[in-house]
Amino acid sequence: MNTLLLSIHPFFQSIGILLAFYGAILGLQRARILHFGQQGVVFRRRQHAMVGAAALFMLLGGLAGGKIITALLWQETAPLHGHQRLAMVLLPLLLVGIGTGLYLYFLPEKRKVLPIVHALNNGVLFILLLVQAYSGIQVYLHHVIKW
Ligand code: HEM
Ligand code: HEM
Repeated sequence: MNTLLLSIHPFFQSIGILLAFYGAILGLQRARILHFGQQGVVFRRRQHAMVGAAALFMLLGGLAGGKIITALLWQETAPLHGHQRLAMVLLPLLLVGIGTGLYLYFLPEKRKVLPIVHALNNGVLFILLLVQAYSGIQVYLHHVIKW
């Protein structure tokens, strides 16, 4: 039963990271147009915002979920320290990613700086999500399913 409950967070965070990957690919189309002047590239703005928002809100909820499940079910949190610390770095990046994204989406204008801030923030966020996935998978394998 506990194994099942402890698998909810890893499952949803994995999906969140996959969605973020798809969102990043869609966002890169915009970067190709804005910064590299490439022609014939299509930026699916609405789709990018929907996928990006789904990913970032899911990851934010999953962060809270991980905290709650750990507090309720897990006494030995030592193996989680790296994962826990990086989550606290991811938290502001998630909030900035969502905030800048919603602003860009709902107040469209010709801009250069804010899209760059948004892209850099979310680029760093995405790389750190992969690091977080790595430590999460280690914890899951060794301490949840004890593989
Ligand atoms: C997985 C998370 C996300 C990633 C990796 C990401 C990445 C990017 C990238 C690389 C760009 C191009 C910016 C540039 O070239 O300077 C961009 C643009 C944009 N993003 Fe995101 N984004 C994410 C989430 C979001 C969210 C949650 C929203 C809105 C709800 C959003 C809305 C936008 C909009 C509207 C633009 C176009 C900006 C403009 O043309 O001025 N993004 N994004
Ligand atoms: C493949 C991705 C991930 C895996 C496999 C994973 C795995 C785990 C596991 C096994 C736990 C222990 C509790 C439980 O099983 O529910 C945990 C806790 C936690 N995870 Fe993840 N995780 C992943 C991604 C993430 C991401 C992306 C974040 C943050 C955005 C995050 C934040 C947390 C937090 C805050 C805790 C509680 C830590 C504590 O308070 O000690 N995890 N994770």
